[in-house]
Amino acid sequence: MEYRRLGDSGLLVSAVGLGTNNFASRLSDGAAGGVLNQALELGVTFLDTADVYGRGSTEGAGASESQLGRLLGERRQYVILATKFGLAMGESVQERGASREWIVRAVEASLRRLRTDYIDLYQVHTPDPKTPIEDTLRALDDLVKAGKVRWVGHSNFAAWQIVDADWTARTHTLARPISAQMHYNLLVRGIQEDVIPACQSFGLGIIPYFPLESGFLTGKYRSTGEGRGRLAESARAVEIMTDANFGRIERLERFALERKRRLLDLAFGWLLSQPVVGSVIASASSADQVRLNVAAAEWRLSPADMDAVAGL
Ligand SMILES: NC(=O)c1ccc[n+]([C@@H]2O[C@H](COP(=O)([O-])OP(=O)(O)OC[C@H]3O[C@@H](n4cnc5c(N)ncnc54)[C@H](OP(=O)(O)O)[C@@H]3O)[C@@H](O)[C@H]2O)c1
Repeated sequence: MEYRRLGDSGLLVSAVGLGTNNFASRLSDGAAGGVLNQALELGVTFLDTADVYGRGSTEGAGASESQLGRLLGERRQYVILATKFGLAMGESVQERGASREWIVRAVEASLRRLRTDYIDLYQVHTPDPKTPIEDTLRALDDLVKAGKVRWVGHSNFAAWQIVDADWTARTHTLARPISAQMHYNLLVRGIQEDVIPACQSFGLGIIPYFPLESGFLTGKYRSTGEGRGRLAESARAVEIMTDANFGRIERLERFALERKRRLLDLAFGWLLSQPVVGSVIASASSADQVRLNVAAAEWRLSPADMDAVAGL
């Protein structure tokens, strides 16, 4: 396993992480335990969750954090735990967003569910247009000073919001966000235009989410209708499983096969060949998938191959 610094921070994360948005909602304790144990055995240290994950389970939102905390037990000290706050955790307008009031409550709930007294990376899940970024950063900085949070990051910020947050933190000497978690994969490359340059300029690492486009980039779904998994059951299937996208993955798969690799290798290898990427946090439904994903992450593409993929 390769370990990388997240942005220009001192936080070291495994190049292959583990996303846990399927914990509790799709995976029982037994199944999630199998996934987690395999990941840890293979050197995965970076685990990503969110307060809101777990909807659809009997516990509801919060259940992914609870299951992860329960399954980790004493092993918590050997991992880097990343979680997020900001999406609605209840009906009230007070139970969402990035205000100081909510952050202070949300962090205590996450710490309790995760059975820990510190969060390694605490991420704003989505921009909160109602709260000035300075208020958010001051509240997060207080958590860092209190030892409850070690580093802060954000997710789904536009490039201008990334720059705004960075400069606000620098100007007021507050903890600077070190990472941007963004939808980024072989099929969805929009952040290359401005978010990635912003992150490179200001020293943030990118944590790509949906790195496999919910399983589509494993190549298991075929235009003939083959392929089973969460994507086939989700509302995203209609927008992802289009003729145009099947055409694109056929071209990408051919490119990989010409180099004696598979589409899955390309999905991981292409992301990890970009130094700005910190950790690829695919979720997995089984220990087998974890093994395949860790093995797939070994390929580093040559500059010529990266140029060729840019045109595919
Ligand atoms: N910040 C945000 O707004 C945001 C949004 C979404 C997600 N995330 C984070 O990103 C993580 C990853 O996202 P995601 O899980 O939704 O999408 P993903 O990583 O693109 O897809 C993962 C899914 O693909 C399938 N899969 C994984 N490895 C496979 C393999 N080797 N062979 C075949 N199938 C395989 C599994 O589902 P099946 O077995 O059911 O097919 C797995 O759950 C989440 O857990 C979460 O931590 C963040």
